[in-house]
Amino acid sequence: MYKLLIRPLLFLIDPERVHHLSFTFLKLILGFKPLARLIGTFFTYQHPSLERELFGLHFKNPVGLAAGFDKDAKLVDKWGYLGFGFVEVGTVTPRPQAGNPKKRLFRLPKDKALINRMGFNNGGVEVVAERLRKMKKGDLIVGANIGKNKDTPNEKATEDYVICFEKLFEYVDYFVVNVSSPNTPGLRELQEKGPLTQLLLSLQDINQAKPEPKPLLLKVAPDLTDSQLDDIIEVCATARLDGLILNNTTIAREPLATVASKVEAIGNGGLSGGPLTARAQEVTSYVAERSPELPLIGVGGIMRPQDAAERLEAGASLVQVYTGFVYEGPGFAGRICRGLV
Ligand SMILES: Cc1cc2nc3c(=O)[nH]c(=O)nc-3n(C[C@H](O)[C@H](O)[C@H](O)COP(=O)(O)O)c2cc1C
Repeated sequence: MYKLLIRPLLFLIDPERVHHLSFTFLKLILGFKPLARLIGTFFTYQHPSLERELFGLHFKNPVGLAAGFDKDAKLVDKWGYLGFGFVEVGTVTPRPQAGNPKKRLFRLPKDKALINRMGFNNGGVEVVAERLRKMKKGDLIVGANIGKNKDTPNEKATEDYVICFEKLFEYVDYFVVNVSSPNTPGLRELQEKGPLTQLLLSLQDINQAKPEPKPLLLKVAPDLTDSQLDDIIEVCATARLDGLILNNTTIAREPLATVASKVEAIGNGGLSGGPLTARAQEVTSYVAERSPELPLIGVGGIMRPQDAAERLEAGASLVQVYTGFVYEGPGFAGRICRGLV
């Protein structure tokens, strides 16, 4: 029904507007518990073989909602009703920021893809922490994806990450250091070995000084070379990271079925969805072969249950979806779970 009726209508409207409308709609219907439970019976799929134990956490299934969808934790306690085993809020920055000027989110339906240059639009860490403090998340695992404000220079980036880490520490189950968004100028330079090691060691020192440290992960871009990936693996070991998220959106524009003039007119931004499947799969296999002990979360171009199965076979312990959820609709996480079983 979603693909036949609802999606064609939604795709007539500006994508960012649809995003906000969906939030309003979901908040309304999932805010009414009996209805939310009923919806849950349609959209969730449970089976003991889906359960995962990872970084000391129990995941009721391995399918998560990727960062960027619920940036401000507005619906964080509701995603379980749509079949997700975990959700990653953020990217959260210390201060609120508006992000890039609109229009900044584009659909490429021929490729089942999106291009976005949102630029970490978010309400800031105080707002997100307060929302998380009030919610009852039940058995859903919640991660926080943290970043820096646009006007914070890279030399001071660590301070931003530390602020977000400290303010959210009590309220989330795991942390992800995001240095891979293509939409904050210079951010991806923090993926280089020197600055990355310094940033992650600073956070890990603070984390390990806590009575109960939280799992600390890193999210990287799919555009890294093999030797840069080797460096990342080394940095993960040095900073004793708990895992790696592969991948963020790509700045590449190949291979696309959408006409080149349309892609050019869209301009800068990160590409996600169908065109990312092969590259994300390749990166997962590469890292899993070289570092079999390092837990991986596979994300990027998971558009069918089969893609999720292949990502897990390649060595990921969990998967996340964003663009697939937009194209496949609210039953997507449940369908992946059913397909995996
Ligand atoms: C509109 C949009 C906003 C995003 N915002 C973030 C973000 O704030 N932080 C982040 O780490 N990733 C963000 N992402 C990247 C996704 O989490 C994911 O890594 C990427 O889209 C690849 O997965 P997909 O092909 O399933 O969409 C965003 C993606 C999209 C499409």
